Amino acid sequence: MSKIDFQGWVAHQQTQFEGVLGQLLPSAEIAPQRLHEAMRYSVLDGGKRVRPLLAFAAGELSGADSARVNFAAAAVELIHAYSLVHDDMPCMDDDVLRRGKPTCHVAYDEATALLVGDALQSLAFQLLSEQRLSDDAERQLEMVKLLAVASGSRGMAGGQAIDLASVGKQLTLPELEQMHIHKTGALIRAAILLGAYCGQLDQPQMAKLDRYGKLIGLAFQVVDDVLDCEADTATLGKTAGKDADNDKPTYVSLLGLVGAREMAQRLHAEALENLADFGDSAQRLRDLADFIVFRKF
Ligand code: IPE
Ligand code: IPE
Ligand code: MG
Ligand code: MG
Ligand code: MG
Repeated sequence: MSKIDFQGWVAHQQTQFEGVLGQLLPSAEIAPQRLHEAMRYSVLDGGKRVRPLLAFAAGELSGADSARVNFAAAAVELIHAYSLVHDDMPCMDDDVLRRGKPTCHVAYDEATALLVGDALQSLAFQLLSEQRLSDDAERQLEMVKLLAVASGSRGMAGGQAIDLASVGKQLTLPELEQMHIHKTGALIRAAILLGAYCGQLDQPQMAKLDRYGKLIGLAFQVVDDVLDCEADTATLGKTAGKDADNDKPTYVSLLGLVGAREMAQRLHAEALENLADFGDSAQRLRDLADFIVFRKF
């Protein structure tokens, strides 16, 4: 598969998935209109959709039905969008720009942003429970639990708590790794596993995918730290230099730009090692690892 194939696949998936999200989100015509409008504003028309792309690639690898993977991917993307809306609020990172647009609390208001996050989170679990994602009901229940754990206090929300508690502090490398694995890695890992659970893989294969997900999820946040420092606001679609402004410990503050880049490349190489046994069928996941580590925004 060439890079052109990959880019075409990404564009196709992003477009079809936009349609899926547009259908799944409540219409802005339905009451409460302002909340629904703000939910659509925060989810649609923006973002790289990296987590859904990972779910689609893992779904292809496991022979999953693509309609099922769309629901799993949507659940993860809704949790991600909720995490961004809350992350940008004045009580957290206090950001005014997201995906090239004013943040939800700026475009609407803080109370609406809070409720957008709440409602997106609920919608994610509604989808996971009302749509058939697996022929095995017990497996589907495990999938619901997987996303719950990945987004809760032992996952994303917990990582965000560590992030906020770490302002102005110098963390050790293992501490920083824990923070990143939780706040960002957990949802990325969940996206891959949920995509794969829509199909069939054996336990050793799932373990390899899990390891790939953990490593590429961590790499994703290391690169986010690098780009916060290296890229400009227009390219990022969010305020550059925000981590230093907010006095956040990051891979760049700890290792420097070169050290952080090297770290991302090491994680990338280690992630790919876990795909070796899959052969050609894991090419999308390899391309996505490249996309994550070598991206410019
Ligand atoms: C940004 O995530 C927040 C992090 C977890 C680092 P993305 O870089 O995936 O944001 P979008 O979805 O493309 O806007
Ligand atoms: C955000 O990390 C992680 C989550 C939203 C869970 P950041 O605070 O670094 O994300 P950006 O840089 O604002 O997108
Ligand atoms: Mg943050
Ligand atoms: Mg932030
Ligand atoms: Mg960041």
